Amino acid sequence: MGTLFHTDDRFEVHKLVVGPMDNNVYVLRCTETGDAVLLDAANEHDKLLDLAKGLGVRSVLETHGHWDHIQAVPQMRDAGYDVHVTAEDADMLPSYDQILDDDSVIEVGRLRLHTILTPGHTPGSMCFLVEGSPVLFSGDTLFPGGPGNTSFPGGDFPTIIRSIEDRLFTLPGETRVLPVTVAHVLAGGVMTAGLLGLRAAFVWWPLHPFGFVMCGTWAMSMFWFSILIGWACKAAVMTFGGAAVYRRLLPLFLGLVLGESAMAAFWMIVSLVTGTPGQAILPH
Ligand SMILES: [Fe+2]
Repeated sequence: MGTLFHTDDRFEVHKLVVGPMDNNVYVLRCTETGDAVLLDAANEHDKLLDLAKGLGVRSVLETHGHWDHIQAVPQMRDAGYDVHVTAEDADMLPSYDQILDDDSVIEVGRLRLHTILTPGHTPGSMCFLVEGSPVLFSGDTLFPGGPGNTSFPGGDFPTIIRSIEDRLFTLPGETRVLPVTVAHVLAGGVMTAGLLGLRAAFVWWPLHPFGFVMCGTWAMSMFWFSILIGWACKAAVMTFGGAAVYRRLLPLFLGLVLGESAMAAFWMIVSLVTGTPGQAILPH
């Protein structure tokens, strides 16, 4: 399968999706000189090494140090590729070669790649802008639809918002953002699973014959069970249909789950208001 994702008269962007988190790995290649750089040695090092060899990659730039973006770092270094990372995220890598500075330029053949430090998702998250083009590699600072997750250690929501406002919103309106995580799919999976869990909690609460104390525990176990089911559904659709099919099915999933949740919530309220165990109310 071809990896070419974007092209203009000076460069190519290649994309490969790897690892359990569906991380996007990009290669930016100067078409005039054939020099290239790989962004995020995320996972599946065999594939990345093949890609790097085939496209003339000289070095690896890490957008940040999260585990799902660095699994292939040792193998890339062993194969002779220098790995660059910011000082703030360097400790998150098993090893590295060079430190990336803010507001600097990395030359990739005739291309000039500008570094834009955007802390918040991690303390050292870095974006890369191709000079004279609208292409921005945003790492996890920008996901499709919003800012990156700040709930992991080192993440900070006000900081990421400031980074996005001060460093990215100031870029031209036609900037084309290339994120590294397939966030719409992940967010969809988590949302589906979470809503399935809510549904289970609502449905089982009024149904449980031993009242609300037992129900709390029961609902929690159903919640986690539902998350597993949600992820299994996502994995099945992704495997057999791919991300595009998943995205098309997502409104249907969400509609079903929301509808069921609303119905279950209604019965729970009836159960609470009337003081009647749910099992006595619901038809069975
Ligand atoms: Fe991340």
